[in-house]
Amino acid sequence: MISEKYQSLFSHTPDVIVTSPGRINLIGEHLDYNGGWVLPAAIDKKITFAIGKRADNALHLYSMDYENLEIVPLSNIVSSAQSWVNYLLGVVEQFQKEQPLSSGFNLVFGGDVPLGAGLSSSAAVEAGLAFAINELFDLKKPRMELVKLAQRAENQFVGVQCGIMDMFASMMGQAGKVMRLDCRSLEFQYFPFDFKDIKIVLCDSDVKHSLADGQYNIRRKQCEEGVSILQKYDPSVSTLRDVPLSFLKKHRDEMPLLVFQRCQYIVKEIARVEAACKDLERHDLAAFGQKMFETHLGLSHYYEVSCPELDFLVKRAKKNEAVFGSRMMGGGFGGCTINLVKTAAIPQFIEDMKTAYFKKFKIDLKTYVVTISNGTTRLDA
Ligand code: GLA
Repeated sequence: MISEKYQSLFSHTPDVIVTSPGRINLIGEHLDYNGGWVLPAAIDKKITFAIGKRADNALHLYSMDYENLEIVPLSNIVSSAQSWVNYLLGVVEQFQKEQPLSSGFNLVFGGDVPLGAGLSSSAAVEAGLAFAINELFDLKKPRMELVKLAQRAENQFVGVQCGIMDMFASMMGQAGKVMRLDCRSLEFQYFPFDFKDIKIVLCDSDVKHSLADGQYNIRRKQCEEGVSILQKYDPSVSTLRDVPLSFLKKHRDEMPLLVFQRCQYIVKEIARVEAACKDLERHDLAAFGQKMFETHLGLSHYYEVSCPELDFLVKRAKKNEAVFGSRMMGGGFGGCTINLVKTAAIPQFIEDMKTAYFKKFKIDLKTYVVTISNGTTRLDA
């Protein structure tokens, strides 16, 4: 479909076709920009890109979702009123900063990663385009460099001070494996996530979040404020990863209450992820799932990035005996909950969640049973 659209718009076949997935995160929320660990994986919801060089210096960008073609000169990469264009332009700008591209390109992209649902459709776009440009112009940048480039695109052009998790997960994912990324050192390991009788089910609240609305950046600033207060007492502290809970509590009165609460959630979550990884290694999903519920409480009460719809979905899931763990996932303020559910009970689980959600909010709940899949891949080679 993407290739056909490309052919019909530009009258030639694309040079490169790339697919880039959305992501889930099992545990470790809001830890990437605090130097902690995260446990993400790529999923079988993807965005596909068909791209080809142009003879001139223009970018012809077509979005399947918005059915819209934008034409931008390479020499004038400035923020567009159409937000989808900015995810692309931010990436192009990063390449231009390093070494200008030798020509413009044609692009058609689209896929089935739901927008604004907390599955990182934006990172999938950024990682996918970075990978596609690297292939198209044969620039030979390693994947990790492309991950960082995509993150800079989001930080500098889109203006969300996000961490590295989403681009990393989209680019580096492997089928059947979750990744434990140490966001301080950027070292990572793959862990098989191969529980036969359990699947990952996402419940989409349909509350559209917009990280760019500022709350995300505010959380990040509050964590930084906590760090700068603690640095007065221990200059070796550079992120909340360096802060024991007892040390934070000792200086509780020296910081605004909200700053303390944000920092306390982060410090506890860092410890929780470490323990949760041990649960996974022992195949103890009951203990792991318990920690997911704890994470949700922290995100809801102390980090305050949940919403009534997400809280309802987690509370309802918790009552279901077939559910090991449930929590809101991603940046928050809407999007999906992630649920670990016994395979045999998934139809009843979905039915129950849909009925209860509709009754309470008059919203049709969308659910996705996801499979852990490969990261960004070239399809035509
Ligand atoms: C968003 C950001 C990520 C991460 C999560 C919360 O998805 O893009 O960098 O901070 O929120 O864990």
